[in-house]
Amino acid sequence: MPPCHIRIETRGRIGWITLNRPEALNALNTAMMGEVCAALDGFAAAREVACVVITGSERAFAAGADIKEAMDRTFPGTFMEDFLGFWERVAGFRKPLVAAVSGYALGGGCELALMCDILIASETARFGLPEGKIGVMPGAGGTQRLARWVGKAKAMDLCLTGRMMDAAEAERAGLVSRLVAPADLLPVAQEAAEAVAEKSQVAMMMTKESVNRAFETSLAEGLRFERRVFQALFATRDQKEGMAAFAARRPPIFEDR
Ligand code: CAA
Repeated sequence: MPPCHIRIETRGRIGWITLNRPEALNALNTAMMGEVCAALDGFAAAREVACVVITGSERAFAAGADIKEAMDRTFPGTFMEDFLGFWERVAGFRKPLVAAVSGYALGGGCELALMCDILIASETARFGLPEGKIGVMPGAGGTQRLARWVGKAKAMDLCLTGRMMDAAEAERAGLVSRLVAPADLLPVAQEAAEAVAEKSQVAMMMTKESVNRAFETSLAEGLRFERRVFQALFATRDQKEGMAAFAARRPPIFEDR
C-alpha cells in the first residue's frame, strides 16, 4: 500500500521523506512513523541512495507524537507493546540522515530531529519538549539525546519548563548544524546531503558510526574504535582512488567499495 502520511522521493542520490499530515501539524502517529521506518528500510536497501533528508512543512516539522492517538493508552499496554520503541529504528539507520526543520519541532518531532545526523534549521524553527504540560515526559530520546547534545542546563530547562527554543538559540546551544533563511532550507539540505553523497559511502557510514560512538563509550574506547575503522578503510578501493585522485589533481570516482 502506498504511504498516506508521508511523501517519498529520490533526488539524485538523496532520498527525501516529507512528513505530510498538515491537518495535525505533522503529529507523529503510529501509521506515520511506520511509514517513515518502512521508507528508511527502502533507502537502506537502495544502493544508489547515499543520504536521506527528513523534512516537514513550513509550519511544522512535527508537533510531537499524536496526543489524540495516545490519550487512552494504559501503562500495561504501552509497556507490553513497547510504545514508541520502534522509533529507535530511525536512530539505527546506518546511512547519514539530514533533518530539514521549519516551524514546530516539538516533543516527538524534536526527538525525531535529534535522531538525525545533520540538522539544518530555518529561522522559523522552534524546538521544545513540552510533554510535561500534558502530564508525561519526553519518551523518544528527548531527555537523553538533548542532554548529550546541548548539556544539562538547556536540557533541564526545556524538559522541565516546556518552553520553546527559537532557531538562533538552538544554533548557539549546539543543536543546529546550520541556520538558514526559510527559502534556503530545502536547497541547503539537498546541498549538504549531496556533499555527503559525493564521497565514499563506506567511509561516510563508518564516520557516522564513529561519531555516534563518542556518545556511547569512553574517550579511550572511542579513539580505539575510530583508529580501527580508519585503518580498515585502507582495505577499500575508494581509499586507493581518493588518494590517487588527489595526487593526480583530478576528481575521485568512488565506487563505494
Ligand atoms: N498531537 C495531535 N494533534 C496535534 C498535535 C499533537 N502533538 N499538535 C497539534 N495537533 C493538532 C491540533 O489538535 C489541531 O487539530 P484540530 O484543528 O483538529 O483541533 C491542529 O493540529 C492544529 O493545531 P493548533 O490548533 O493547536 O495550532 P496552534 O498554532 O494554535 O498551536 C502548537 C500549535 C503550539 C504546536 C500546538 O498545536 C501544540 O501545543 N501542540 C502539541 C505539542 C505537544 O505537546 N507535543 C508533544 C506531544 S507528546 C510527545 O511527543 C511524546 C514523546 O516524547 C514522543
